[in-house]
Amino acid sequence: MEESAIEKLEVIYDRYVETEGSVISVLQDIQSEFRYIPEDTVYWFSEKSGVPASKFYGVITFYGQFHTKPRGENIIATCCGAVCHVKGSERIFLKLREELSLRGGQDMTADGRFTVEQVSCQGACNVAPVVVVNDKIYGKMSPNKIVKQIKKM
Ligand code: FES
Repeated sequence: MEESAIEKLEVIYDRYVETEGSVISVLQDIQSEFRYIPEDTVYWFSEKSGVPASKFYGVITFYGQFHTKPRGENIIATCCGAVCHVKGSERIFLKLREELSLRGGQDMTADGRFTVEQVSCQGACNVAPVVVVNDKIYGKMSPNKIVKQIKKM
């Protein structure tokens, strides 16, 4: 692991000790620093703290908020709920993937700038189809609108 990564983990570890933190708060801090939970960070933290790695992975698999694969700087998520689906969200998703040259199971661009994924209903069905860009909901989207938006990013 790189020295800079270890420095970040040391800060998280110190905070964990000072605040008598939880596994969840540690994982949130790691994800906030690295944008996902790299496997070697879990083992580093497990060894340092004495908390078994299996405990970390139990939490990671239980909560949908944690990601174990690298994620892009910008997260673009098309809603795949029933209403958005009927209103054409799949076309938006496919257009995004095409525009960003994502192939096969790839969901992050080679330069790490974008991750494209699908999310369940966002509770904004009245403005379907919905796309969530970096946690902000955009309604009444279309393939062309999202392409224009990512070109500005
Ligand atoms: S189905 Fe997309 S916001 Fe509800």
